[in-house]
Amino acid sequence: MHNYQHRTHISERELQLHDVSISKLLKIAVEDKHIISLGPGEPDFLMSPVLQRELGKLKKYNHYSPPGGRHELKEAIAKKLIKENKINCNPENIVVTCGSQEALMIGVAVLCDVTEEIIIPEPSFFAYLPTAELFNAVPVTVATKEENDWQLNADDIKQAITKKTQAIIINTPNNPTGAVFSKKTLEEIADVAVEHDIFIFSDEAYEKIIYDKKHVSIGSFNGMEDYAITLQTFSKSHAMAGFRVGYCCAPKEIAEAIAKTQVYTTLSAPTVSQILALKALRSGNAYTNKMVKSYKQRRDFIVKRLNEIGLHTKMPDGAFYSFSNISNYSKVKDSKKFATMLLNKAKVAVVPGIDFGKHGEGYIRCSYATELHKIEKAMDRIEKTLKQYSRRH
Ligand SMILES: Cc1ncc(COP(=O)(O)O)c(C=O)c1O
Repeated sequence: MHNYQHRTHISERELQLHDVSISKLLKIAVEDKHIISLGPGEPDFLMSPVLQRELGKLKKYNHYSPPGGRHELKEAIAKKLIKENKINCNPENIVVTCGSQEALMIGVAVLCDVTEEIIIPEPSFFAYLPTAELFNAVPVTVATKEENDWQLNADDIKQAITKKTQAIIINTPNNPTGAVFSKKTLEEIADVAVEHDIFIFSDEAYEKIIYDKKHVSIGSFNGMEDYAITLQTFSKSHAMAGFRVGYCCAPKEIAEAIAKTQVYTTLSAPTVSQILALKALRSGNAYTNKMVKSYKQRRDFIVKRLNEIGLHTKMPDGAFYSFSNISNYSKVKDSKKFATMLLNKAKVAVVPGIDFGKHGEGYIRCSYATELHKIEKAMDRIEKTLKQYSRRH
């Protein structure tokens, strides 16, 4: 018997991969029952009773699905995209994936060669940057700013374009800022994409979680079916995050390439989840609208309280996050330190803005996909802690 130790080798790619504090914070929040967590990025609701009943009938669906998705579901998704999003498509354009995150990941693998660039407006959903890096593509960030209501500026995108730019990732309604990009902005970005012949990943995970505005899909504009890869999901709209089912709508050749690659990743989204997703599409939007009504009430409350406390917060138009400026309390703009302080002293878990990229530094994100009574208590605790904190600083 040889007595040697196997060497641990971790790839350079993995060692260089971005790490975010959210996972550690959320782990602590789950382990400590005294902590109120405003961290999670998923609905606190159960699935609708209709979907719960459907789930009970699916015991026999233990087999793989075809890569790219079950045909019936792809047909229903195409119909939904035509009717609700005005996107000109058919089932050949649809790939059903394990959450929309898988569609983005494979989409980047399919579109980007090593050192090609992806423009990412920031602050942004924390998966975008590492996804680009995992495929040795180069993320190029462009800031959106609080003083511009977190709106995207097409000129900033234009300036970031080089010969190596392959795609832009846009996200409306936005995580973490809650901004909903205007139709005019989206039209300008569509023009930039056509002019420079680049693709747009349009992450519409929160398309249904929108308050007084109307969601516009960039893929609905004339000719954009050749440029847009629209990403949508059942995670937020139908409280189905754990079922891992989402999809993309892409130009036919790209959809085929994504489905081809899916054979080597997950093979297919879970069959049970796909059948539930079909039921979700067929059962209308009433349950989603009920959730949105509740989020709106919580949004109004949390934004009012955060501003009263001195954590300046713009009113978000969509998604279920508030994004607050901490400069009244953290002169050095260290959101991780600030979030850790709130976790230890106020026993409230929030996500530091730095997790959403360097342009998110100086802010904290609170999820109001949390019961109202918990939000009330969390705000009281933060207020009390910050009163003591500001006396000492
Ligand atoms: C902006 C955004 N895109 C995509 C996702 C991933 O969603 P899915 O569950 O469909 O993978 C999330 C989840 O939080 C998100 O916030």
